[in-house]
Amino acid sequence: MNWSKESWKKKPIKQQPTYQDIKELSIIEKELSNLPPLVFAGETRNLKKELAKVCRGEAYLLQGGDCAESFDQFSANNIKDLFKILLQMAVVLTYAGEKPVVKIGRVAGQFAKPRSSDIESKDGLELPSFRGDIINSSEFNQNARIPDPSRMIKAYNQAAVTQNLLKGFARGGLADLHEVTKWNLDFVKNSTLGLKYQEMAKQIEQTLKFMESCGINPSSSPQIAETTLYTSHEALLMPYETALTREDSTKGGWYDCSAHFVWIGERTRDLDGAHIEFFRGIQNPIGVKISDKISPDELIKLTQVLNPTNEEGRLTLIVRMGADKIEENLPSLIRAIKKEGRNVIWSSDPMHGNTFNSSTNYKTRMFDKVLFEVKKFFEIHKAEGTIPGGIHLEMTGKNVTECVGGFQDITEEKLGEKYTTTCDPRLNASQALELAFLISDIMKKSKIG
Ligand code: PEP
Ligand code: CO
Repeated sequence: MNWSKESWKKKPIKQQPTYQDIKELSIIEKELSNLPPLVFAGETRNLKKELAKVCRGEAYLLQGGDCAESFDQFSANNIKDLFKILLQMAVVLTYAGEKPVVKIGRVAGQFAKPRSSDIESKDGLELPSFRGDIINSSEFNQNARIPDPSRMIKAYNQAAVTQNLLKGFARGGLADLHEVTKWNLDFVKNSTLGLKYQEMAKQIEQTLKFMESCGINPSSSPQIAETTLYTSHEALLMPYETALTREDSTKGGWYDCSAHFVWIGERTRDLDGAHIEFFRGIQNPIGVKISDKISPDELIKLTQVLNPTNEEGRLTLIVRMGADKIEENLPSLIRAIKKEGRNVIWSSDPMHGNTFNSSTNYKTRMFDKVLFEVKKFFEIHKAEGTIPGGIHLEMTGKNVTECVGGFQDITEEKLGEKYTTTCDPRLNASQALELAFLISDIMKKSKIG
């Protein structure tokens, strides 16, 4: 198919840094190409099989994590908290949906950010925009904003440690369903939300006891005590992704071994652009973000280029239209995909179309708008007879104050209390869990209705 891991270089490219020292860049690229892969081809094939089930409506996809991972905020505790909240949400959704939940973190590589403007200005000073810790520093001074290729090595190392932690948490006892009651978060413990979670946990505990008396236990069924959390990020920064793209020594084929799942952002999905060229040749399961700006025709072409064999589980369409635009724009896309018989997973990103600036001058999102977009997503799929396969969230396991609303009722005035994101505002652990419960209600209702 006339593809190589470098064939994207002949295509127009967007959202890349301009490195000043080209020699240094090529030294770093060489170093990265010799470093071990962060994930293995076989693991990405397993994920693709699980996503094929999502595509057929036999499983549900939960994808979430930071908008941008950061070097400064990297700690085992932060990773552990994200792992725990994703697992809690998965338990809630599994319980309601009666289907397995495929869990993918925006983690272990989610460093590079596309920006709407190349320039950021503050108090009359104009500087190049912050593009994520893998590229430059968020500090507001000229030097900090110079793209530094050695940051790719630091990002790689952080991603490697994160992968190791996630595997440890997934297999080392933390994911044991027996522990489920103990996962309750301190700050929701005595609230309605906390009690709702505890009640469900109690029922799961009883079910586990019943199963154990029937001889079903962790040694006969490891999935009771273990899980898998796959990794993902927007594969934006091409030198990094290219250096980690490897040919599978067992079965052949090229894999981007920087993460199990990689996606193309809304700003870099031009049909004739570099990112599409790169993605069409890798065998990982992949995603594309789509907004109201895509036409049904363009979408069909994208699916043909990115998934020519129409393989189930290969392609996830991550819909990020905004609460006010989804009703008008999603149905025609769904109909086109249905008419052409394209196999895709429909996933809802209710974050990126709902960002606004608060009166207190924070970039934020309203919990109710997020929920509204998810609800509409489910309703539209129900009306079209298609599968609302998953959800894609910017969220953290920490008790931050970045999004407005939720049962803690975070107001615009409170946003400054714990606003720590380096890019977009995230749901905090309580808002994420609340959203999972609300989605579980929608799932239950749509089963009855
Ligand atoms: C993101 O997921 O952080 C992002 C930049 O999304 P989008 O490409 O949809 O704007
Ligand atoms: Co974002």
